Amino acid sequence: MKILLIGGGGREHALAWKLGQSPRVEKIYCVPGNPGLASVAECVDIDVTDNEALGKFALAHNIGLTVVGPELPLTNGLVDHFSALNLKVFGPSQKAAQLEGSKAFAKEIMHKYNIPTAASAAFTDADSAIAYIQKQGAPIVVKADGLAAGKGVVVAMTVEEAVAAVDMMMRDKAFGSAGNLVVIEEYLEGEEASLLAFTDGFTVAPMIAAQDHKRVSDNDQGPNTGGMGTYAPAPVVTDAVRAQVTREVLQPVVDGLRQEGIIYKGCLYAGLMITAKGPKVIEFNARFGDPETQVVLPLLASDLVDIMEACADERLADVTIEWENKAAVCVVLAAGGYPGNYTKGDKISGLDKAEAQGAMVFHAGTGFRDGNIVTNGGRVLGVTAVASDIRAAVDKVYQAVPEIKFEGMHYRKDIAHRAFNRK
Ligand code: AMP
Ligand code: GLY
Repeated sequence: MKILLIGGGGREHALAWKLGQSPRVEKIYCVPGNPGLASVAECVDIDVTDNEALGKFALAHNIGLTVVGPELPLTNGLVDHFSALNLKVFGPSQKAAQLEGSKAFAKEIMHKYNIPTAASAAFTDADSAIAYIQKQGAPIVVKADGLAAGKGVVVAMTVEEAVAAVDMMMRDKAFGSAGNLVVIEEYLEGEEASLLAFTDGFTVAPMIAAQDHKRVSDNDQGPNTGGMGTYAPAPVVTDAVRAQVTREVLQPVVDGLRQEGIIYKGCLYAGLMITAKGPKVIEFNARFGDPETQVVLPLLASDLVDIMEACADERLADVTIEWENKAAVCVVLAAGGYPGNYTKGDKISGLDKAEAQGAMVFHAGTGFRDGNIVTNGGRVLGVTAVASDIRAAVDKVYQAVPEIKFEGMHYRKDIAHRAFNRK
């Protein structure tokens, strides 16, 4: 079978690596790909928002399965377009992807189907939003409705901070039209975790829970990022919590959407806060997490192509999904300045040496220049190690990471710290 993979980051590199292990796969094309992906796939330069061009490519190259990595092509209707062309595709439709694309929609579904989440209210004008904040008090959370590249959320510890966030989003339009609708939400206290699931719109199969590290520096200091590292399994998600989230969150959201006439197929990602009162949803994503994928897929023992095809064909119930009884840790190597302005084009060395230490190096923001692999994004690489337990995986990954060098490189040295010294 020939596979078309959409995207060009660390998540897609991990997806391609896992898909390529299937004996059923003869070739993977990746749009647009990156230098790491080029070692496991043929990279093709097409605009990922050009549904027409992608459909033509898939038909011309006899693609048996298309896998969509990032959210933008999903909310842009790529899956709907491919389905209309009778092309098999793993990923939710445009309507289903609203679960990620619109926080207000996600909240509406959660409230309607009694899915545990923070109490919230949505506003289209700044005055009412501010009045609500003043009534509720702080801490409180302000979120721009649309996609804002992970930056549209302000966790305000004071009323003044929350009001300033409303001004920035609704009056100054810091995130453009994403600020036309703002959701104000109850502050949740607890430990965060990501539980991703495969679903065909009926059956839900949870993966192994992971924990991301959003802040740029050790001890969760500094600004938020797209994610500086992950590990799995996350001990905060015990077997009981995982079963509870499946029963109270994942299955009801898939069933609820179906009642709304929406069949959600693909990966459903629940961003959770494990509070004293049980797990609550912070957000949904309509895709695999990045860098969650870089630790979850290395623990998947089953054939990913079989699972994805079963999701597309609505027969996931017939598939047995098995996981390795191991642990994985991923450390993101970021460019100098990230998550602020950062340089590009710096030469990267030591990739082979890191792999010789037994780590996997997933490319996120890399490029080719003059025959060298160079930096080309904020999150440059994700280094993953798999071992018998989290401690061993941490030791292995931090032995490999220093082999890699580029100008300005920085990374967190405490990935997976919450897995240790637990009460
Ligand atoms: P989001 O983009 O919705 O995932 O939010 C980004 C980050 O803000 C999350 O990973 C949390 O750390 C934090 N956050 C979002 N919503 C809440 C909430 N209701 N209570 C506390 N923290 C939150
Ligand atoms: N790691 C967070 C995300 O993929 O949204």
